[in-house]
Amino acid sequence: MTIIDELGKASAKAQHLPAPITSASRMQSNRHVMYILKDTSARPAGKGAIVGFLKVGYKKLFVLDDREAHNEVEPLCILDFYIHESLQRHGHGRELFQHMLQKERVEPHQLAIDRPSQKLLKFLNKHYNLETTVPQVNNFVIFEGFFAHQHQGHGGPRWPGWDHSTAPESQGGLTAPT
Ligand code: ACO
Repeated sequence: MTIIDELGKASAKAQHLPAPITSASRMQSNRHVMYILKDTSARPAGKGAIVGFLKVGYKKLFVLDDREAHNEVEPLCILDFYIHESLQRHGHGRELFQHMLQKERVEPHQLAIDRPSQKLLKFLNKHYNLETTVPQVNNFVIFEGFFAHQHQGHGGPRWPGWDHSTAPESQGGLTAPT
């Protein structure tokens, strides 16, 4: 079992999921990006310890706007996020999230969140003032400002032909038909 498998298992346990949604094999078959926060000063010396991880990826989704119209979009999605139990509420989650936002060049309002836990909803509210959601019929949560902040390229709303080559990993959300 790889470190990525171990992290996926720990995250699933923390979220009471029936099975991990992050594993080494899934990382190989999906175009997801995993940001890992490591404490280099931790023992054993030289090896350090992993504090947590954040997995993101672009997904084609249908999302409802505030007029309940369906929009096909391809936002960056928060797919899995975990900080070790002993280190939660010490600011590590925010540090990791900030790093991801900078690297991916996205604003918090542009994100779609896959089945956020209560802890994550509180986290997003506290650090990024994300509170008012736009109701959806799938498992993804988007916040007020999502449509205003979308831009061309990655993002939407837009109506391209379906790209069958990038069928997303299904996690229960409404996704593009194959
Ligand atoms: N209860 C309520 N709110 C919490 C909790 C908790 N146990 N833990 C963190 N938060 C929220 C609060 O807003 C908290 O602020 P407060 O302490 O002033 O109330 C804030 O997060 C703390 O911010 P950070 O210290 O930067 O966050 P942390 O390092 O704890 O990371 C994370 C946040 C990733 C949600 C972490 O708590 C965690 O791993 N939780 C368990 C797994 C989980 O729920 N992951 C999200 C799953 S959903 C998804 O991944 C799409």
